[in-house]
Amino acid sequence: MAIGSDHAGRDHKELFKKHLEGMKVKFVDVGVAPDVEKANYPEVAIKVAKLIQAGEVRFGVLICGTGVGMAMVANRFMGVRAANCPTELVAVMARGHNDANVLTLGQRTIGPNLALAILETFLTTGFEAGRHQERINLFEDIYGTKKS
Ligand code: RB5
Repeated sequence: MAIGSDHAGRDHKELFKKHLEGMKVKFVDVGVAPDVEKANYPEVAIKVAKLIQAGEVRFGVLICGTGVGMAMVANRFMGVRAANCPTELVAVMARGHNDANVLTLGQRTIGPNLALAILETFLTTGFEAGRHQERINLFEDIYGTKKS
């Protein structure tokens, strides 16, 4: 999986990286480095979205101040389904019903313990498919550009 944050999400990113190592989940960190004072969230979200589109990673995690900007950018990439999850229930639904492949999260809105619980829930919940896949099919190729 790929993980990235802007300056407003860098502490949670470091926390997540330690947790992922503990879970034995392999990840690539696309930045920003812990000492970066200002960063543009779109640049980070674009990096993770491109890795998913290229099939290099299956999942992504993007952290900014609120998770909102990261989700807006990532969702412009076809095949990327980013969900801003402020609770564990939203993470369960985002995976189970929406097959979200990117978790976005706000460091300024969610404390470290809840953030870790949301991360773990997101990574361990499976997609339910069936009628939910049919609904995803209704928007996945919304621009009609997918090569078959
Ligand atoms: C940075 O100040 C902040 O705007 C950004 O982290 C994020 O919350 C945007 O959605």
